[in-house]
Amino acid sequence: MTQTPATRPHWTSRLAFVLAASGAAVGLGNIWKFPYMAGEHGGSAFVLIYLICVLFIGMPVMIAEMIIGRRGQRNAVSAMDSLSLEAGQSQKWRYVGWLGAMTSLMMLSFYSVVAGWSLAYLYRTWSGVFSHVNAEQVQTVWRDFIASPLEMTLWHTLFMLLTLWVVARGVQSGLEKATKIMMPLLFVILLILVGYATSTDGFAEAVEFLFKPDFSKITPTVIIAAMGHAFFTLAVGVGAMLIYGSYLDENVKLGSAVFTIASLDVLVALLAGLAIFPLIFSNQLSPEAGPGLMFVTLPIAFSQMGGGLFFGGLFFLLLFFAAWTSSISLAEPVVALLHENFKLTRKKASIVVGFVAWFLGLGSLLSFNVWQNAKLFGRFTIFDIAADFSINILLPIGGFCFVFFAAWAMKTSSTKQELNVSKPYYYIWLLLARIVAPISILMILFNAIIQ
Ligand code: PHE
Repeated sequence: MTQTPATRPHWTSRLAFVLAASGAAVGLGNIWKFPYMAGEHGGSAFVLIYLICVLFIGMPVMIAEMIIGRRGQRNAVSAMDSLSLEAGQSQKWRYVGWLGAMTSLMMLSFYSVVAGWSLAYLYRTWSGVFSHVNAEQVQTVWRDFIASPLEMTLWHTLFMLLTLWVVARGVQSGLEKATKIMMPLLFVILLILVGYATSTDGFAEAVEFLFKPDFSKITPTVIIAAMGHAFFTLAVGVGAMLIYGSYLDENVKLGSAVFTIASLDVLVALLAGLAIFPLIFSNQLSPEAGPGLMFVTLPIAFSQMGGGLFFGGLFFLLLFFAAWTSSISLAEPVVALLHENFKLTRKKASIVVGFVAWFLGLGSLLSFNVWQNAKLFGRFTIFDIAADFSINILLPIGGFCFVFFAAWAMKTSSTKQELNVSKPYYYIWLLLARIVAPISILMILFNAIIQ
């Protein structure tokens, strides 16, 4: 039986929704990507631009997605379908829903591979692999690990099964329950880690690195990188926020909910920076280590510090929780689509989505070893294509379409009613959503394409 909007599951409370959406936002982006991007792009300069982008571009797009989701009360494809009908627009807008679903699948595929690394490293750290090792040995551990397709597949499979397990259980007993347990735990672990970092010599240096504005470091590259990252970290552009919004009751105010979600997301990223950089600085390591910061630089620090192994394990546990609550939000848009429009049970839909993403993920995984020389245009491995193409190109395209649809195609009377804020706030959103966000997104895209 097809579900009507009235019989669809809903979050049991505003808090449940805020936690689930924050779970989608807080992910590898905050704990793995943000610190190394800040490290590569001059620390405070990057942080400043990233905050501006969250406020003026990311949040308006998130609101747009939620407006569409809540008003549509359906998955992205059907929501765009019915809302374009309501607004007297072409129903071709439904293809944006499909684009979002494809992007989610692609992102889930590589996301699960990287999340698998966090599990592998959690296991390694707590089983003592990093006790009394030097920098070279830590590097060897990393190289051996990514050279082993079998081991990576094991962790990738385990992580995907965990994701499926939650998603298959449905909105209330799956998504809601998981995020209600994991998000508070994540905060506790993060605070413990920041507490630990404050006791190291590098703390003051880290604070300065992250917060002392140095405007000379702001370059076009930094701006573009910060903008792209704001998008990824807020989980906008694939319809994840749209589907979460579609499970939301009418009486919850979208504006303040989005503000809370975005603030939590930023807070976690900054706290992660405050937990990580002090360890890097107090062990005279480089903050510019790139994607390996978490897996190569940090273990060197752990191996040299008192209690390093215990706290090191906590780091990977944190990474794993953050990734888990995000991966379910990547699976949900596609599962909801298959469930609602193709009449698959939730369980079957989850299995199909999980299998496809798992299978695609194998391509990413093998590009670190067996297929490392298979490169498109002599440059891009399968992982690069899955990760960079989806984050830098597909995500902004999706975000552009959602914000453009809500701001230009939908009637202002509908968006006003959904957003339900006082007039000045509504017009600020409209201005950002009509002009500032779309133009900025086009700039990110243009830059990504010419690079
Ligand atoms: N926001 C997640 C992160 O920072 C990634 C994500 C993007 C999740 C898009 C869902 C949708 O890791």
